[in-house]
Amino acid sequence: MALPRVTAILNQKGGVGKTGLTAGTGGALSERGRRTLLVDLDPQGHLTTEALGLAEVDPSEPNFAAALTGEFTGSASDLVVRHSTSAAGGVLDVLPHCVSMFLVVRKLHAARSPEHRLARLLQQFEGVYDHVLIDCPPSLDVLTDTALVAADGVLIPVQPSNTSLRALRLLIEQVAVIEEELQITRRELHGLVPGVYRRPLSGIAAYKMSELELYGISDGEVPPLPILAYLPLAVAVEEAWLSGKPLTDYHPTAPIADAYRRLATHLDVAAGLSPESALERAEESPEDTAQSGAEAGEK
Ligand SMILES: Nc1ncnc2c1ncn2[C@@H]1O[C@H](COP(=O)(O)OP(=O)(O)OP(=O)(O)O)[C@@H](O)[C@H]1O
Ligand SMILES: [Mg+2]
Repeated sequence: MALPRVTAILNQKGGVGKTGLTAGTGGALSERGRRTLLVDLDPQGHLTTEALGLAEVDPSEPNFAAALTGEFTGSASDLVVRHSTSAAGGVLDVLPHCVSMFLVVRKLHAARSPEHRLARLLQQFEGVYDHVLIDCPPSLDVLTDTALVAADGVLIPVQPSNTSLRALRLLIEQVAVIEEELQITRRELHGLVPGVYRRPLSGIAAYKMSELELYGISDGEVPPLPILAYLPLAVAVEEAWLSGKPLTDYHPTAPIADAYRRLATHLDVAAGLSPESALERAEESPEDTAQSGAEAGEK
């Protein structure tokens, strides 16, 4: 039995598209036939309630927060909620938010080796899921530490309007510092995913985007990070959130659906579930997606 491939969606900056990327890519993985678990690690609970239209778990019931603090010691599968299944045999399951998540950071600080709690919980899903995606909170706190310990790889959503190369480098350095402190091997940094920007690009956004595209290429000081997909603002995403459906399900032909599929393919290749050649097919000119939606009425 194989362990699921665990990917942390990480950026300590707020509103850069972490939750949208998690829900969209999760839907695309399920569409591909993958058994996928989404982990709502953010005490705001946006993934559960806003993006997927699911109810919060009653704190008096067994819940994810209690599993992290050690108050719940039962089977992790009892905490999982099924969101949907796909025609290809995929599933989209969720470890949903519970209001007591707000207390978890404080409780974990008082616990012994708190950073390993999520990794241990996810080990129970050996053979159950192909992929686990973790929607991280907008902070570099102990919850994010648990995600980094549990993760095999990291996706970094960035907003071109407010991300400088310096901020990005800082984020990546901070991840390296945490990895060193926790004595874990370097996680695979899959790449950047620019999102939550308007098209056509404003002058400043176009400048920032080209900076992101040159990350690590222009100065040679840091390893380059590829841009894996573009996720510009699209009305279809807002509508999908309101409907509680993943975007690939709500509007399968939207340009942004293909961007989520590209990310899903990337993670599938990283997990060894799809051949590299799948990526070449999916990697056709991602800029097309960045630009084309503008003419297509942002759908
Ligand atoms: N491609 C998109 N098109 C339209 N709206 C989007 C898109 N991506 C994200 N949004 C919206 O932008 C807002 C911020 O996105 P999101 O919640 O994914 O960011 P985040 O990084 O998870 O934020 P936080 O740091 O607060 O957790 C949300 O209201 C979301 O609905
Ligand atoms: Mg979020």
